Amino acid sequence: MSARTILITGGAGFIGSHVVRRFVTRYPQYRIINLDALTYAGNLENLRDVENAANYAFVKCDIRDAEGLKKVFAEHAPDGVIHLAAESHVDRSISDPMAFVNTNVIGTVTLLNVAKKAWAELILNSILERGAAPRFYHVSTDEVYGSLHDDGFFTEETPYDPQSPYSASKAASDHFVRAYGNTYKLPFVLSNCSNNYGSHHFPEKLIPLMINNIRNNKPLPVYGKGENVRDWLWVEDHASAIDTVFHKGVNGETYNIGGHNEWKNIDLVHLLCSIMDKKLGRAEGESAKLITYVTDRAGHDLRYAIDAGKIERELGWRPSITFEEGLERTVDWYLANQAWLEHVTSGDYQRYYTAHYADR
Ligand code: NAD
Ligand code: TYD
Repeated sequence: MSARTILITGGAGFIGSHVVRRFVTRYPQYRIINLDALTYAGNLENLRDVENAANYAFVKCDIRDAEGLKKVFAEHAPDGVIHLAAESHVDRSISDPMAFVNTNVIGTVTLLNVAKKAWAELILNSILERGAAPRFYHVSTDEVYGSLHDDGFFTEETPYDPQSPYSASKAASDHFVRAYGNTYKLPFVLSNCSNNYGSHHFPEKLIPLMINNIRNNKPLPVYGKGENVRDWLWVEDHASAIDTVFHKGVNGETYNIGGHNEWKNIDLVHLLCSIMDKKLGRAEGESAKLITYVTDRAGHDLRYAIDAGKIERELGWRPSITFEEGLERTVDWYLANQAWLEHVTSGDYQRYYTAHYADR
């Protein structure tokens, strides 16, 4: 396998940190550059186990900063980009849509411009000498397809119909990536994945929020009637799918990624309560008493469900573990990592950056 230099954006976030860890440990012949602005959602503690690896480097940079990006491309000459940096929380997009336009749309287009120019002129020769070929991999969400009723699945042919400011901004970024492929012949692949869960997930999202609140005996806020359905995939299986698409995907193609694992929110919260009752030695049914129905999210999408047939048939990828196994591992990780939770919720990880990285 040829030596490659891969720029991973958003590598300090939830999914990005799993992708960085996978690439750093599985591909010692690659150089992995993690580029992240370290917003509230980015935490270098997520990568403590690989931060001293010889093939890993971190760069603090905002994807809206064209000059900063140009320097990174000139210095590291990446032949691959795996783009995960984004504002990712639907509720935040409802209260501050411009932040989502700025990072997800303008940031993505800024990155596309810099990659396009660098790959056309600046660093193309050094990439070709390395025996590699440029590839821009855009990581996106199934939410761009909108909301399903009780049946049917999202396929790669489903028309875009985003319903929240978050999904609209991700849809716009997807369109820009394809437009750069068509107009400027930028070699790209794209994937749209369902909801992820697993370790290092910021506790504003459903699963880590519920685990944290159950442990602390705090109310469990279920939006509306809890009837909305999400299709959950273990984050390490998403990272393995990203690895597969990056290496085996066909330029210009899109791959849907999902776990064939639909859950109504309320059923999932009950399942988490029951797992936590056992782990914490509480009587069965004790944690479920914390469930509190709260005002529904504005414009709340009813159901997401992915048809992952294309990536399974064409690239041979499949999820590796069951939901029961993944949830059990996730709960165990949160119970064993109380300090991480305290740091990310208090902003202490910013101090971790200053102590460990400011002089690098
Ligand atoms: P996250 O919010 O946990 O992490 C986002 C990361 O991007 C953080 O490290 C943050 O510091 C960084 N970032 C944000 N703005 C930036 C900017 N302007 N410049 C540089 N870095 C910036 O998100 P996540 O859940 O890990 O999602 C990663 C990607 O995967 C996103 O593009 C998201 O749309 C997509 N996705 C997420 C899910 C999911 O269930 N979480 C599902 C499908 C697709
Ligand atoms: P979330 O984790 O925010 O992911 P997304 O909105 O991108 O699917 O939410 C998952 C589901 O859980 C969604 O239907 C909203 C619901 N939800 C709650 O009921 N309560 C909560 O406190 C949160 C954060 C989400």
